[in-house]
Amino acid sequence: MAHLLLILLLSTLIISCSNLVLCHSVVESLPGFEGTLPFELETGYVGVDESEDVQLFYYFVKSESNPKEDPLILWLTGGPGCSAFSAFIYEIGNEVSTEPLINLKGYILGNPVTTLDDGNYAIPFAHGMGLISDELYESLQRSCQGQYFNIDPSNARCLQDYQAYSQCIDGLNTLQILEPWCGFGSPKPQELFSERRSVDEKNIELVINALKLSHLWLNDDRVREALHIQKGSIGEWNRCTNGLPYTQSIWDSFQYHVNLSTKGYKFLIYR
Ligand SMILES: *[C@@H]1O[C@H](CO)[C@@H](O)[C@H](O)[C@H]1NC(C)=O
Repeated sequence: MAHLLLILLLSTLIISCSNLVLCHSVVESLPGFEGTLPFELETGYVGVDESEDVQLFYYFVKSESNPKEDPLILWLTGGPGCSAFSAFIYEIGNEVSTEPLINLKGYILGNPVTTLDDGNYAIPFAHGMGLISDELYESLQRSCQGQYFNIDPSNARCLQDYQAYSQCIDGLNTLQILEPWCGFGSPKPQELFSERRSVDEKNIELVINALKLSHLWLNDDRVREALHIQKGSIGEWNRCTNGLPYTQSIWDSFQYHVNLSTKGYKFLIYR
């Protein structure tokens, strides 16, 4: 077991939190859960720029086994713009109980953009998962020569094959094909119903219900008060918000991982 610290990676949230002591609070109970929480939860704000006028909200869960010795997992939720609650509730799962990962002094990246040609692996993946036929896969390989984005407009054969591929995966959540696409970043619960296609149809109701519940729960003032979220610091809660103002300056992170590995950090990048 490790401690868990979950923070939204990029936020426009600006609050005044001049007294850092006031910026973290122990949460002992939450609306909807009877009694005191069975684990130690703390929430608070952490300043990220020099003047500390940009404050990110965090959840901290104390290790339940040996808090003095146990390592800390810092979980930065991406998107950019997705809520740390999203990681807390939907994404941690397996990693927490996978023993060897816990004591690594390194990092884990889930579903990141790593290199410019990440997109080229979508096609072999779709084939491996049985989403496209052998015939289409072979034809794509022949006509596109492994280059599946920025397709040369004069390569009609490749465009046509790519179109066929797009139709095969249309409506699927390409980040996790067992989840419905609607389940991930949909800002409004009613939009969850607009696209409904998943390899695992049984999963759809579960995911939609869980998202509807978290949307209702986190927009409830009693919950916000219990989590010590500062009044007026955030409007409607959505799992992911679009349109955060940021400039993408790094397109290929491969060399960073190479450099970090030479410094002895271990890492896992998974999709
Ligand atoms: C990786 O390390 C080399 C050698 O120290 C350095 O020149 C280069 O800028 C580093 N690259 C990145 C992306 O950090």
